[in-house]
Amino acid sequence: MNLQQTWPEPIVRVQSLSNSGITAIPKQYIKPSSSRPSLAQPARDVHIPVVDLSNLVSADPSLRDETLSLVLRACREWGFFQVVNHGVEHALMGRAREIWREFFYLPMEVKQCYANSPVTYEGYGSRLGVEKGIKLDWNDYFFLHYLPVSLRDEKTWPTLPLSCREVLAEYSNELVKLSEKLMKAFSVNLGLEENYLQKAFGGEEVAACMRVNFYPKCPQPDLTLGLSPHSDPGGLTILLPDGHVSGLQVRQGDDWVTVKPVPNAFVVNVGDQLQVLSNARYKSVEHRVIVNSAKERLSLAFFYNPNGNILIEPAKELIKEDQPPLYPPMTFNDYRLFIRTRGPCGKSQVESLKSPR
Ligand code: OGA
Ligand code: NI
Repeated sequence: MNLQQTWPEPIVRVQSLSNSGITAIPKQYIKPSSSRPSLAQPARDVHIPVVDLSNLVSADPSLRDETLSLVLRACREWGFFQVVNHGVEHALMGRAREIWREFFYLPMEVKQCYANSPVTYEGYGSRLGVEKGIKLDWNDYFFLHYLPVSLRDEKTWPTLPLSCREVLAEYSNELVKLSEKLMKAFSVNLGLEENYLQKAFGGEEVAACMRVNFYPKCPQPDLTLGLSPHSDPGGLTILLPDGHVSGLQVRQGDDWVTVKPVPNAFVVNVGDQLQVLSNARYKSVEHRVIVNSAKERLSLAFFYNPNGNILIEPAKELIKEDQPPLYPPMTFNDYRLFIRTRGPCGKSQVESLKSPR
């Protein structure tokens, strides 16, 4: 399966649509009634766990174990949690948000210089999936690679605002460190050696990329979604949500739980590759984004992924006679072609891989 070189339809920037003052959204954005968000539904007072990571490296083993078990519970019960005392400076988080907001406020002709194509997805985009006629989501984004270094192409990163590349490098570097910390915790919680998952992701050749999401105001937020339900295809995701506007919803059974961001926290979630490696001890969880008519929303999603060329399969150490491997080996490059072709489709991909039993 090869991706085509160009988008199947002319690209429309959602931000331009929003700024044009339309009162009705174009039909490509209107979801079938069963997929629309029910915005009127009273928000349930349920929240994803918040985990304080400060004791993850404590010299006191009991404090460390306590944090590890909170992480384990959050992974198993939710697949999503917020982290505080994560080691990333709050001022840097603020600067990262700020430069990206400035980027999206640049004149359209400046942003168009970074317009992306479905070949690599790098750059300024407004669509996920190349199939003609698919429903579109109410967002624009910027996608870039940070690791491995061989894939990092700073020429594709914005030159404006002036500090963009510098802040981006500093922020990504810190997020790599946080990802490494979480990967150790995830390994130990599976009963594996602490560097197990890092090695399985390719060690030094691990991949990391970022998707900055911009969700403009929407005149009919009850008919569409900022991002359709999906599980993240990669390893783990560290999201810096908007500081003021909520929108991320996590599936819990038949319900959608709105994440209420804690100040200065990151939202962490397990992706499909950790579901595969852990032989479904960890599960990636479906999530989506709702939009609103009053405020735009900005989020920075940092994806820590296996190197694209390495075969990912359930860890041999977790396979028992009564726990056979649930997934066949596959490289992440092959795996991610699915979402890049069809767009976000819930958890259908990882579920479809499951070997029949
Ligand atoms: C994503 C994602 C959530 C958000 O980019 O994969 O799920 O709140 N983003 O923007
Ligand atoms: Ni996601």
